Amino acid sequence: MKDLKNILDEKEYLHDLSKISAENKVPVISYEVGRLLETVIFIKNPEYVLEIGCGEGYSSYFIIKNLKKAIFTGIDLNCRRLQKAKEFISSSFPDITANFYCGNALKIIPALNFKFDFVFIDGAKFEYPDYIEVLSEKLNKNAVIVADNIFYDEKIFARYVKDHDKNSLKGLKKFIKLISNEKIFDTKFIDIGDGISISIYKQ
Ligand SMILES: C[S@@+](CC[C@H](N)C(=O)[O-])C[C@H]1O[C@@H](n2cnc3c(N)ncnc32)[C@H](O)[C@@H]1O
Repeated sequence: MKDLKNILDEKEYLHDLSKISAENKVPVISYEVGRLLETVIFIKNPEYVLEIGCGEGYSSYFIIKNLKKAIFTGIDLNCRRLQKAKEFISSSFPDITANFYCGNALKIIPALNFKFDFVFIDGAKFEYPDYIEVLSEKLNKNAVIVADNIFYDEKIFARYVKDHDKNSLKGLKKFIKLISNEKIFDTKFIDIGDGISISIYKQ
């Protein structure tokens, strides 16, 4: 019963946090995607965890919440956002080992010494296929990759594409093709939030 009460308090707390991120013009994952992330982490119990595009730490909260003995690595291009994420996560979860890197994930990931068991992708859509490329040397067998914004406001299904969206859609389509390669990944798409993919790395 206490746990259920905690869920309601947490919901309110997270709602306030997502409002602050919205005010700061940081698009965050939906609450439902957050709950899914924490569930996947609970079941998978990963040791090495990576988040690409952690923003101000809203999504990181759900990812870190159910980690046990794990090392979390969060990357964001925007140092001001990253600093907020770092402060928020260290005050919410003082016991977790978390490393935050400010910079381009495409440059940072190849230099990391870990292979990951869980990766959450929420960076720039046009770069999604490049993230898969740099991750290819950095995944443990059966690693789980979750990616947000796969449907991109349903634009992924549209016939007509505005110039402004072309790069993002091109990146997303290439990403979908890569994670649909059954020799390398088992992938499912789920219609929550802005659409997510969940892939298991088979190699
Ligand atoms: C949608 S926001 C992330 C929101 C966050 N995941 C959440 O739900 O709270 C996308 C973030 O990706 C970051 N980003 C974009 N390209 C990146 C890259 N190449 N490397 C690292 N971060 C990147 C942006 O700075 C931005 O903060």
